[in-house]
Amino acid sequence: MRTPIFAANWKMNHGPSEARAFMQRFLAEYAARDDRTVVFFPPALALAAAREAAAGRADIQWGVQNIAAEEKGAFTGENSAPMARDAGAAAVLVGHSERRHVFGETDEQTAGKCAVAFAHGLIPVLCVGEKLDEREHGHTEAVVLRQLRAGVSRLAPGDLDRLVLAYEPVWAIGTGRNATPDDAAAVHRVLRAELQALGATVRVPILYGGSVNAGNAAALLAAEGVDGLLVGGASLAPESWHAVVSAG
Ligand code: 13P
Repeated sequence: MRTPIFAANWKMNHGPSEARAFMQRFLAEYAARDDRTVVFFPPALALAAAREAAAGRADIQWGVQNIAAEEKGAFTGENSAPMARDAGAAAVLVGHSERRHVFGETDEQTAGKCAVAFAHGLIPVLCVGEKLDEREHGHTEAVVLRQLRAGVSRLAPGDLDRLVLAYEPVWAIGTGRNATPDDAAAVHRVLRAELQALGATVRVPILYGGSVNAGNAAALLAAEGVDGLLVGGASLAPESWHAVVSAG
C-alpha cells in the first residue's frame, strides 16, 4: 500500500509568529496517522518557528520552497541546499510554476537544483505543468515531458528512485479550477511511463496540485496514479488544511 503525501505549500504566507500559531492549532486537531504523510513547505524564514511549535511530532515532515542551484557563495538573497538541510528540511520544491513563470526559472536551473538537492540529502519535489494556452494547443504532454526530462538530466544513478514529482497545471493554480480526476490521471500516466523509460525502478510518487480543497481532495486522491496532493490556498488555515489531510 502506498502512503499518500499531503504537502502544504504556504508560498509567501505565514511568518514565524503565524507559523507558530498555525502549528499549535493544527496539531491540536490532527493526531499522527500512519496511513498518510504530512509535509509543510513554509517560507524559509518561518521554518524554525514552525518546527519548534511542532516539537515532539516526528510524524510531520518539513521542506523549503526553493534553493539555489549553487552550493554557496555570492548569491545575495538565496538559500542553499546545505543550509536548508541544516535548518531541518528534508525536501525542497523545485520548478514550481511561480518560480518558472514569475521568476523566470529555466529548465537548466531546475536540473541544477535537483542535483544539488540530492547531493546534500534533500528530496526534490520537481513540479511540472502546462499553461492554459499550451493545454488548449494540445501541448500538455510535450511540456510536462520536457520539464521532467530536463529536471532529472543531472541526477546521479539511483537518485531518480528517490525523486518526488508534482503535476500542477498552471491554469489550475490559485484559480479555483482544479483538473478533473480524469485529467490528472491522464497526465500522471504519461509521467509515470516516462519515469520508467528514464530508469526508475520503484514507484516514484506523483502528487497533483492546483485548487485542491476539502471538497475535491478525496476524488483527486482516488484518481489512478495520484499519490498525494500539493496544496496552496487550502493549506493556509488550520481548519481547511485539517479537512484536506483528513480526506481519502
Ligand atoms: P492552490 O492550491 O492555491 O491552487 O496552489 C497550488 C500550488 O501551487 C501548490 O504548490
